Amino acid sequence: MEPNTGFNIEERLALDFVRVVEQAAVDSARTLGRGDKEASDRAAVRAMRAAFNDVEVNGRIVIGEGERDEAPMLYIGERVGAPARTGVEYPGVDIAVDPLEGTNLCAYGMPNAIAVLAAAEPGGLLHAPDCYMEKLIAGAACRGALELDAPVEDNLKTIARCLERRVEDLTVIVLDRPRHETLIGAIRKAGARIRLIPDGDLSAGVSAAVRGAGVHAVMGIGGAPEGVITAAALRCLHGEMLARLVVDKAELEERVRAMGIKDPQKIYTPRDLAPGKEIIFAASGVTEGPLLKGVQFFGGGSRTHSLVMTSATRQVRFLDTVRLDGPPGPRGIRLF
Ligand code: FBP
Repeated sequence: MEPNTGFNIEERLALDFVRVVEQAAVDSARTLGRGDKEASDRAAVRAMRAAFNDVEVNGRIVIGEGERDEAPMLYIGERVGAPARTGVEYPGVDIAVDPLEGTNLCAYGMPNAIAVLAAAEPGGLLHAPDCYMEKLIAGAACRGALELDAPVEDNLKTIARCLERRVEDLTVIVLDRPRHETLIGAIRKAGARIRLIPDGDLSAGVSAAVRGAGVHAVMGIGGAPEGVITAAALRCLHGEMLARLVVDKAELEERVRAMGIKDPQKIYTPRDLAPGKEIIFAASGVTEGPLLKGVQFFGGGSRTHSLVMTSATRQVRFLDTVRLDGPPGPRGIRLF
C-alpha cells in the first residue's frame, strides 16, 4: 500500500479541482439566460459531481447542496472521489462546494456567476449551518484593524487609512436587499461609493482581497456557507474578514449548537472559518466578472477562465483553458 503520509494535498489536488469547477462552469454556462435558475444549478451540480469521479481523493462534502434528504447530489456528508484502486490510499479531504454561486446571475445572463469549491485536510473547514452570516471583508492591509460591531463610518475610515486613500475613494459592495437599508444609508452618509449587487457576495469577497479589482470592502449579510468558502480564499490571499452567524430563531440556535458551535454569537476570522493547514480554493467564471472571464463557446469547444489558490504553498494561478469536444473541424482550433 502506498503510504498515506507526507503527501501534499495542495500540490496533488489543485489542478484536479480546477477541472471540477471548470466542468461545472461549462455545463451551467450552457443554460445562460434561460431564466431557469433551478436548471442552471442542476447542470452545475451534476457536472461537478461527475467530475469528482476522476479525482483521486477520499473527499467528504462538508458544505454542499443541503442535507441528504433534500439534495440528491453533493449533499452534506456525501463521499466523493475516484473509485478505490488496490494498493493506493487517496488523501482524505473536506470539501465545501458552491457549484453555481449566483444561480440567478447565470439564469438571467448577468455578470459574476462562478463555480467554486474549497478543500482542506479533514477538519480544515467549519461546518457552517445553512443560515445567514454578517460579513465585513477587506484586503490584507486591513488585517487586525477592523471591528464587526464598530460604526460603519469608523470601519470605512479605518479601511481608507489602511489603503492610504480617502473614504470617498472606497468602493464597497453590498447585496441589494431590503435588510441592508440602514447599512447602505450609513455607507452613503460616510461618503464611500457603493456597488449594489443582485447576488454573489462570495466572488465579491474574494475581489475585496485582491488589489486592483476595484473593490475595497464587502459589508452586510449573506449566506454562511458562502462565508466559509470566502474565508478559504482569504486564507490564501491573507485578506481580512470578520463574520458572525445570524442566529435569530430558537430552533436555529438549537441546530447551531447541535452542530458543535458552542457560541452562536462568536465573531469569526478567516482562520476560524477555514482553519486548515492546506487549503485549496478553486473557482471558474461562468459569466464575466472582475477577476474571471465567463465561459466562451466556439464551434467544437469551450474556453474557461479559472483561479486556483493554495494556502501552504502560497500559489495563485489563473488558468485559461481551451477544451475541445472532439477532434477539431476543418477550420482548426480557435484560440483567440
Ligand atoms: P445562489 O447562488 O444560491 O443563487 O445565491 C447567491 C447569493 O446571492 C449569495 O452570494 C449570498 O450569500 C446569498 O445568495 C444571499 O442570500 P439571499 O438571496 O437570501 O439574500
